[in-house]
Amino acid sequence: MDANAVKSDLVLILDFGSQYTHLITRRIRSLSIFSLCISGTSPLSAIASLNPRVVILSGGPHSVHTPDSPSFPPEFPEWAEANDVVVLGICYGLQLIVQRLGGEVRVGEKQEYGRMEIGVEKSAALYGSKRVGDRQLVWMSHGDEVARLPDGFDVVARSQQGAVAAVENRVKRFYGLQYHPEVTHSPEGMDTLRYFLFEVCGINAGWKMENVMDEEIKVIKGTVGPEDHVICALSGGVDSTVAATLVHKAIGDRLHCIFVDNGLLRYKERERVMETFESDLHLPVTCVDATDQFLSKLKGVVDPETKRKIIGKEFISIFDDFAQELEQKLGKRPSYLVQGTLYPDVIESCPPPGSGRTHSHTIKSHHNVGGLPKDMKLKLIEPLKLLFKDEVRQLGRILNVPGPFLKRHPFPGPGLAVRVLGDVTQGNALDILRQVDEIFIQSIKDAGLYDSIWQAFAVFLPVRSVGVQGDQRTHSHVVALRAVTSQDGMTADWYYFEHKFLDDVSRKICNSVRGVNRVVQDITSKPPSTIEWE
Ligand code: XMP
Repeated sequence: MDANAVKSDLVLILDFGSQYTHLITRRIRSLSIFSLCISGTSPLSAIASLNPRVVILSGGPHSVHTPDSPSFPPEFPEWAEANDVVVLGICYGLQLIVQRLGGEVRVGEKQEYGRMEIGVEKSAALYGSKRVGDRQLVWMSHGDEVARLPDGFDVVARSQQGAVAAVENRVKRFYGLQYHPEVTHSPEGMDTLRYFLFEVCGINAGWKMENVMDEEIKVIKGTVGPEDHVICALSGGVDSTVAATLVHKAIGDRLHCIFVDNGLLRYKERERVMETFESDLHLPVTCVDATDQFLSKLKGVVDPETKRKIIGKEFISIFDDFAQELEQKLGKRPSYLVQGTLYPDVIESCPPPGSGRTHSHTIKSHHNVGGLPKDMKLKLIEPLKLLFKDEVRQLGRILNVPGPFLKRHPFPGPGLAVRVLGDVTQGNALDILRQVDEIFIQSIKDAGLYDSIWQAFAVFLPVRSVGVQGDQRTHSHVVALRAVTSQDGMTADWYYFEHKFLDDVSRKICNSVRGVNRVVQDITSKPPSTIEWE
């Protein structure tokens, strides 16, 4: 199936602010169906221009009774019907359909949150072969409830308390679920979604990473002129590596990558990633050793945000020099910059309607190390901007990026600067940290735990404690070990190691790293902490 055919089977999600909206998009993509998510209050022209086959109205924290509660454009229902677009409302989305099409939603007497049993009441398109009387557990989370349906709609399932759980209007092709089929707490929810999309809507499954790759390569070739050159800063992380590999496949050595050793990298990181870039991926990479440049600017600096700003500024100046050198060498300035922006970053920068936020950048702003220099005048290529992290890994596999590389834990742009508390140039803090971190990570790998952990690392504490090593009293540093599980880095839980594992790691560290006599473990989740210490 070619890429255009896949896109003509688009399932578009209109986002009304539910915490599960991204999950719906991901679940649908996991069925090999192309799915995108845009703001629920997008104008009809934006919805129509994407030419969706199905529109799903997401849940959201609002009540349809609140003035200014977000809604689809008024002409949307007629447009959907006239264009044979199937509509599914989930939770708030269902209530919007009911209210906007002339039914009634009232503030529920009994609010329903959590796991509930529902029963099918009518032979229904939504539930396929399920018979009247069939029961299933679902995840509800709503205050308001449907009191009266618009003309032409039927109730097809109810909760035990009698509340409307599912409705449909087969003529208009409007459907609604009061519960969340996309969450794992609704064990049969995926069956319902699958049945709905394939059988009721007749969607074809054709969204495959191979299509994405071919199409992106076509787009990149079409965008970058035959004489144009492109630059890409590699961080050693998955996203920039996959983005660069894709662009390289499209335009070959007119891509120029740069990898900066800022002196804040992990143990042997430079050698390890350069080996992957050069030997495995054959990427054209210039490695710049800027250790002195960064560390001299960071000397004596203790404030975390100031450290980040200094590092960002130095990165920019190095990229700028790189662009100038290329201009001299090639006789023309590179015109494009590759960035490994992912779909969650795109969605997060347009927060859902009614959230009261204009931009949800605040948490992540410090994560875009460096930002873009204003006078570089480079146009952006963001080939991963429609993909989630797991999809980027899938694409990386197709592009032959080595498997272990694709599974690397995230590493912050400012590197070890946010893992040495205070002045990074104090004593041999960076060296101590590198050794401790390497022992910790290697032990995690040896124990087969690496892939079950979102991120693990060591932190250098600028305090000394008294110890006794051999026959001598010591006054040496304390290091902390941090390992967390997480879905997306926004929240996290600390990881429970076996005591024996911790005991072994602690011994190894104290026995082999000079200058450390105490190891502690960070047992805080996020919130209240962050994942990094600074
Ligand atoms: P926090 O510490 O904010 O981290 O809970 C969430 C995720 O983001 C990473 N992180 C950063 N990444 N530049 C980055 O590129 C940064 O300044 C930065 N600070 C945190 C962190 O490692 C975790 O994966």
